[in-house]
Amino acid sequence: MAPVRFDDKVVIVTGAGGGLGRTYALAFGARGAKVVVNDLGGDRSGQGSSRAADRVAYEIKSAGGTAVANYDTVEDGDKIIQTALDNFGRVDILVNNAGILRDKSFARTSDTDWDMVHRVHLRGSFLVTRAAFPVMKKQNFGRIIMTSSSSGIYGNFGQSNYSAAKLGLLGLSNTIAIEGQKYNIHCNTVAPYGGTRLTEDVMPPDMYKELKPELVAPLVLWLSHEDCEENGSLFEAGGGWFGKYRWERAQGKFCRETINDPVTPEAVRDNWETITDFTDAHHPGTNHEASALLVMGLQDLKAAASIKANPTSSAGGG
Ligand code: NAI
Repeated sequence: MAPVRFDDKVVIVTGAGGGLGRTYALAFGARGAKVVVNDLGGDRSGQGSSRAADRVAYEIKSAGGTAVANYDTVEDGDKIIQTALDNFGRVDILVNNAGILRDKSFARTSDTDWDMVHRVHLRGSFLVTRAAFPVMKKQNFGRIIMTSSSSGIYGNFGQSNYSAAKLGLLGLSNTIAIEGQKYNIHCNTVAPYGGTRLTEDVMPPDMYKELKPELVAPLVLWLSHEDCEENGSLFEAGGGWFGKYRWERAQGKFCRETINDPVTPEAVRDNWETITDFTDAHHPGTNHEASALLVMGLQDLKAAASIKANPTSSAGGG
């Protein structure tokens, strides 16, 4: 099989001045892509600035690749896209990776802690992607990556702002995947594990050392490739391990016999075991699949009501 290459492709990696983003940018650059290395260069709470993006662009160029540094915040998404267009004339791949932390226990989370984190992660990814989307649509090609987090999937003490934004990105990705499909624009979400400045004081030292950020990059590259058909999916990635997620929904139970019966909290209580039992669970992949099961069930309840109202017609009809 041919190696995974990105010749003639233009890639934007936001927050690529360090950590995971840097490793994505280097890997794309090494495989032929023209890379926009975006990074504001602030500290991990988003304060200050530095020339980190220049250093990464220099690393790519020193290795024989093509790159340009960009210092706009993801809140100025259109400027980042313009940098790609001015320098390389296209935008094929966008990796929304920029991020900050403002950890506080939920009750102590201020408006600013909430807003800053949402502005960079969720609103920032929205703004950069919205600016890229029409360009990709015109090309009839695009690959978009959103960056989520296990904190969003599972929750994490002290990260209510961050976990809400990170799972918000999954919802955003799911809808972009649906809207982009017909233009060959795919959008997938990655929840990475990497030893970076964001995690140095939360991961045990051994784990921090082993979860090298460059071990996440191969998944991001494959999801960004034109041959990859994956769309609207979520993956966890760390230490060279990659796994896809899906939703699981219990078979559940209608807590009434017919469409005309009332539904009571007592009935919910009395059926709790079945409502929460994952034996033979469903795995709806789309909104349509999820609601179709409900609609079918409602039809059964209607049929049950008419049999109850007219028992003889059903007995004789068989
Ligand atoms: P990092 O702090 O090394 O990298 C984030 C980069 O984003 C920084 O270089 C920072 O300057 C840049 N940035 C921040 N605000 C920006 C803005 N407004 N505009 C442009 N750039 C901005 O952290 P790390 O760990 O590499 O994180 C990368 C992404 O992965 C983040 O979205 C983070 O939330 C996510 N993540 C990381 C995990 C990990 O284990 N390291 C776990 C789960 C998610």
